[in-house]
Amino acid sequence: MVKGGNRLQGEVTISGAKNAAVAILPACLLVKDVCRIENLPDIKDVKLFVRILKQLNADVKYIDKNTVEIDCTDVNSYAPSRDLTRRMRGSSYLMGALLGRFSRFSVDPPGGCDFGTRPIDQHIKSFEALGADIDTSRGVINGTADKLSGGSIFFDVVTVGATINAMLAATCADGLTVIENAAKEPHIVDLANFLNNMGANIRGAGTDTIKIKGTKNLHGGTYAIIPDQIEAGTFMVAAAATRGDVVLKNVIPRHLEIISAKLVEAGVNVSDGEDSVRVWVDENKALRHINFSALPYPGFPTDMQPQLVSFLTTIPGTSTAREGVWENRFRYVNELKRMGANIRVEGKLAIIDGVDRLIGANVKATDLRAGAAMIIAGLIAEGTTEITDIYHIDRGYENFEEKFVNLGGDIQRIQVVDDLLD
Ligand code: EPU
Repeated sequence: MVKGGNRLQGEVTISGAKNAAVAILPACLLVKDVCRIENLPDIKDVKLFVRILKQLNADVKYIDKNTVEIDCTDVNSYAPSRDLTRRMRGSSYLMGALLGRFSRFSVDPPGGCDFGTRPIDQHIKSFEALGADIDTSRGVINGTADKLSGGSIFFDVVTVGATINAMLAATCADGLTVIENAAKEPHIVDLANFLNNMGANIRGAGTDTIKIKGTKNLHGGTYAIIPDQIEAGTFMVAAAATRGDVVLKNVIPRHLEIISAKLVEAGVNVSDGEDSVRVWVDENKALRHINFSALPYPGFPTDMQPQLVSFLTTIPGTSTAREGVWENRFRYVNELKRMGANIRVEGKLAIIDGVDRLIGANVKATDLRAGAAMIIAGLIAEGTTEITDIYHIDRGYENFEEKFVNLGGDIQRIQVVDDLLD
């Protein structure tokens, strides 16, 4: 339950990146030694992944809630349980990781947020380029290879998931793999840094071309996950929307440049420190409407699209948001309309006519980032907003209500939903 009207003020520490964590955890399967991972976000998707690793016979020890030691030496199965994998998208990385480790995998199609069709043709194409046979005919995805060998992979679309899967499969393959038209998101670089730290030879992550010289000699080590670009962006937009003044700590300002640029265009102040960012709005400042397109990195992140639209609902004039990654990522718009927002969706374009105010209503978190958008809308709305299905938010944000409350937001969790993960 969110009561609107409070300006967010103070400091918030950003947690480790969810989408890096769900790539690095399966990467541990390639290492027959202890990987110590620090700055691991304490979120449901991570807990789920840890359960999957344990189910495959990995030895997992939590040192504290954000530090874990994982030893995959005794992993003895290439077939994770369907009950666990179907609950998240990141489980698709088990395909690349298990192929790399055992030259075979048997994994059910992954779950995750619903943005229309989420194909895996590019994942399959990359495994085939490394010499694997993939069979999807019986509802389960089965992969086998006599021997994984380096190969050339040219992606037809820029895809984070397939880039990560190709990297996981190629890390221990024989010879050189070259991935062209690779995704460049910060978590791709983070995965490469993690694997290199464990003895892999990956160059070019963060550019269009990634080159991987396969090696069988991975070893254990310690690695700290990067801060979450999207969690940081969510707090930046929430600070702006409430006309607040918030300092975000433990961030990489370079990863936030495009989010800062859009906020500055709207009239918000953003100032970067070394590993912090301050976001604030001058008193009585009239903010401006803007247009933006969600695109692969370094474009504006699609995972920030709903939150920015929420912010724009009360900015005078007409703003537009174009979704350039997913087929259908505007399902949440109907929820904002229940709060009085004036938004029209035409295909992949949302046209937002700023209204004077939003009014609290009962709304649903239709997916993870849509849930974050509902919180932002609740914080600026008049009255009380009740958000249901917040398990989506728990999948990807650590202590979200506590962090907002510490900044002065009036947020209360009124029902704890136990989804069997604790
Ligand atoms: N695509 C294909 N074929 C494929 C794979 C993807 O056509 O084989 C298309 C998709 O349909 C989509 C585009 O390529 O249109 C991009 O998809 P991508 O593979 O990059 O997405 P993903 O790996 O499934 C990750 C994040 C999402 C984020 C997208 C885009 C994880 C676990 N998920 O998904 O994050 O929206 O990249 O940046 O890393 C979130 O965190 O809320 C979230 C949904």
